[in-house]
Amino acid sequence: MKVNVHRPRASRSVVTALSALLLGLVATLITIGSAHAAAGCKVTYGTNDWGGGFTANLGITNLGDPVTSWTLEWDFAGNQQVGQGWSGTFTQSSKHVTVKSLSYNGALATNASTSLGFNGSYSGTNTAPTTFKLNGTTCDGTAGSTPTPTPTPTPTDPGDGGSHAANPFAGGKGYVNPEWSAEAKGDGGTAVANQPTAVWLDRIAAINGVNGGMGLRAHLDAAVSQGAGYAQFVIYDLPGRDCAALASNGELGATDIGRYQSEYIDPIASIMADSKYANLKIITYIEPDSLPNLVTNVSGNTATAACQTMQQNGNYVKGVQYALNKLHAISNVYTYIDAAHHGWLGWDSNFNPAAQLFATVAKGTTAGVNSVDGFVVNTANYSPTTEPYLPVNDQTRQSKWVDWNYYVDESSFGAAFRQQLIADGFSSGIGMVIDTSRNGWGGSSRPTGPSTASDINTQVNAERVDRRPHVGDWCNQSGAGLGARPAAAPATGFDAYAWVKPPGESDGSSSAISNDEGKGFDRMCDPTYGGNALNGNSPSGALANAPLSGHWFSAQFHQLLQNAYPAVS
Ligand code: BGC
Repeated sequence: MKVNVHRPRASRSVVTALSALLLGLVATLITIGSAHAAAGCKVTYGTNDWGGGFTANLGITNLGDPVTSWTLEWDFAGNQQVGQGWSGTFTQSSKHVTVKSLSYNGALATNASTSLGFNGSYSGTNTAPTTFKLNGTTCDGTAGSTPTPTPTPTPTDPGDGGSHAANPFAGGKGYVNPEWSAEAKGDGGTAVANQPTAVWLDRIAAINGVNGGMGLRAHLDAAVSQGAGYAQFVIYDLPGRDCAALASNGELGATDIGRYQSEYIDPIASIMADSKYANLKIITYIEPDSLPNLVTNVSGNTATAACQTMQQNGNYVKGVQYALNKLHAISNVYTYIDAAHHGWLGWDSNFNPAAQLFATVAKGTTAGVNSVDGFVVNTANYSPTTEPYLPVNDQTRQSKWVDWNYYVDESSFGAAFRQQLIADGFSSGIGMVIDTSRNGWGGSSRPTGPSTASDINTQVNAERVDRRPHVGDWCNQSGAGLGARPAAAPATGFDAYAWVKPPGESDGSSSAISNDEGKGFDRMCDPTYGGNALNGNSPSGALANAPLSGHWFSAQFHQLLQNAYPAVS
């Protein structure tokens, strides 16, 4: 697991010449193949503008015969320049913009809609284009012929039966993983060893148990015998996992979507569906980092080739949709999609695109947006729940630390992001979860009040409880402590504070360690590293002598206990 950050500047989408060429060929073939098909379409275009920049949201409705891929085109009236785009591959030549569908959103039945968008820049007036073409046909809102109406299928939604709770954390205790508990107890953590933590199903072998350890059934059996109300599992084995970092690269290659489905998700779903567990609420956190990586790591100076591959082949989206379909179909399973954290998706340029991507992904599942119960923020990260002394205002936003973000903590980010998700089509019943396992920032370095320093950077640095060198630092952070103890319904719109990352388990090794887990060495875990574009070229802030990600890191556990906030008594 890694968590990265960046604030993309407006820049052209990166499309390799080869993939553009291949997509062009595909589009040509389809156009030829459907030359006699009835065509018709409607396009909506709206923008949110800020001085010189804007976010554009587009909706396409296919009013003609079904298509298997689409190409959308328009001309700008002014000097608008497309920057980062989502839900399509964008190219621009002078005023002419071409967007091609991706592998997962190309198929549009008659009357089906899809959405896409981009961040752009302009000077002068940002006049909206009015003429759009879809697969060569001008979209005037009328059908090319009267297509046989395709009835909208009524979504089959077995998961929303009477037994599906509004907040699965409420009214019961959380499962305490005896394996984590024993580690914690054996390493000075008796005071917290009875807290519920999530079990990470981080490889296929974890389903049956690695090296004689507990597998999924053993955990579920133990949860039932503990009388737990809920048990938490992290679904974490996508093809091409952790595409913007190395420490948690996994076992499946970029194209292994078939294995992900049949060897990973299918067996997990079939165990969770066992009627023995029907009275247990099974909470799943779906694929940390993956969809956020598709927002922030596919273009500009934070792009990685691995993330571009995962965007192009669609396997993150397909994998998450497959997981949602299988898991949501079980009425006592609850799904929370990973929504990164404020220092990743908080900036305008990432905030709306991420919410839109999540909406597109969910709408592509059998139950649509109802396949998602909520979102988890700060998974395995260190962003505080609240920054009590650091206000967000026109002054502090100019500091290096805040860097124009509108959010400095997870409570404000989570609440605002939830509203955006609802605006983009999610149910108003969705709940947020904050991973508070390691976001405490207590101890003697914790600020105790606001600062009166006149220099804005000095002021902000004195006020912030988050002591990281940079908000993009994510590996084994020096100075961090345990955060709020797990709690149900801690605030309006929040289902829980949960310990998703089991405290004491490493984020990644400080130097290369050979292993058979697919894990790489990421220099963000090396305390001597000076950083890169993902963390503003800042020190990594990582502790030394860390083992591989997921392995017990005693020194870190001791630090977490010592700097816990609230303190451990
Ligand atoms: C690792 C997983 C581990 C999880 C929880 C991730 O960073 O890649 O192997 O299970 O953390 O500690």
